[in-house]
Amino acid sequence: MGKRVLITGGAGFIGSALGAQLVSNGHEVHVLDDLSFGRRNLAPVPDERFHQVDIRDRAAVRTTVERIAPQWTLHLAAVHFIPYCNAHPIEASDINVCGTINVLDACGAIAGCEQMFVASTAAVYPIADRAVDERHDTGPMDIYGITKLATERLAGEFQMRTGIPTIIGRFFNAFGPNETNPHLIPEIQRQVLAGARTLKLGNLDPKRDFIHTHDMARAMDALLNAGLKGLEVFNIGRGIEYSVREVVEAFERQLGEPLKIEVDPARVRKVERMHLLADVSKLERVTGWKAQWDLDKGIRTLLTEDVPL
Ligand SMILES: NC(=O)c1ccc[n+]([C@@H]2O[C@H](COP(=O)([O-])OP(=O)(O)OC[C@H]3O[C@@H](n4cnc5c(N)ncnc54)[C@H](O)[C@@H]3O)[C@@H](O)[C@H]2O)c1
Repeated sequence: MGKRVLITGGAGFIGSALGAQLVSNGHEVHVLDDLSFGRRNLAPVPDERFHQVDIRDRAAVRTTVERIAPQWTLHLAAVHFIPYCNAHPIEASDINVCGTINVLDACGAIAGCEQMFVASTAAVYPIADRAVDERHDTGPMDIYGITKLATERLAGEFQMRTGIPTIIGRFFNAFGPNETNPHLIPEIQRQVLAGARTLKLGNLDPKRDFIHTHDMARAMDALLNAGLKGLEVFNIGRGIEYSVREVVEAFERQLGEPLKIEVDPARVRKVERMHLLADVSKLERVTGWKAQWDLDKGIRTLLTEDVPL
């Protein structure tokens, strides 16, 4: 039976994939997004289900949530590009923390809110040189991770106060179509599609756990249907890590041409962790979810079907 679902940030990169997945499952999907980073055409909903609202506007969030009366809410709206958050710490805190309070309070105040999902991040973990599971200590090392750890704590407080089942998804590095921020993979995609065969990149050695947005959407869908109670935290990653060099090699395989790398000092991040790898056994055990998109398959579609930033 279809649910009335609200996705905040549903005009963004991950939210658009999630919306498409939930629409295809027969749910009535509404999107709340201020379009600061997202794009209207990415939200797979008709105009009457698209609500252009800033989550910092407490009254507008309240009115919109009352009007929609969602049974499930998935709160993805946030600013998350780490260099942007570092440059705008007050704005990042205001959106990621105060905005989250507004969304949670509005959902807690309506009758019929059955389930809450809150997007968090692998950036809440401290530096680790092995796969991290959900019981690992938290220890964010940048303003973004700090705001997201606050988001998690607020979700926990919401669940205790309201009793509404609440899922926290710690997303690892998303890749796929419709990227909205200049992360590594869309940056390589942009340079390659512009004809470059010598890529200008920053740090080459850090390894990341790249998960395709279609797989993330399937994971969230599976979690929403798992009948979870209380507060549950899940890593949403793939459980495999690749260095920047290995990502470039995957582009070479799909392109059938060699690529050279030139380190661009302007792109080198001063503070960088060398590993970020998810242990996804809890997600697999609880939902039966398995990733379907490997790096090469995802990159192939980026070179043939997607329009870069
Ligand atoms: N992309 C990743 O690799 C990644 C990794 C870990 C966690 N996340 C988390 O996943 C969620 C979605 O990220 P994404 O990659 O799709 O990013 P995104 O920037 O494409 O999506 C975020 C959406 O939120 C909207 N938004 C931002 N500020 C808003 C505000 N004040 N009011 C209303 N809407 C606002 C933006 O317009 C955008 O559409 C975020 O919570 C992010 O922290 C993403």
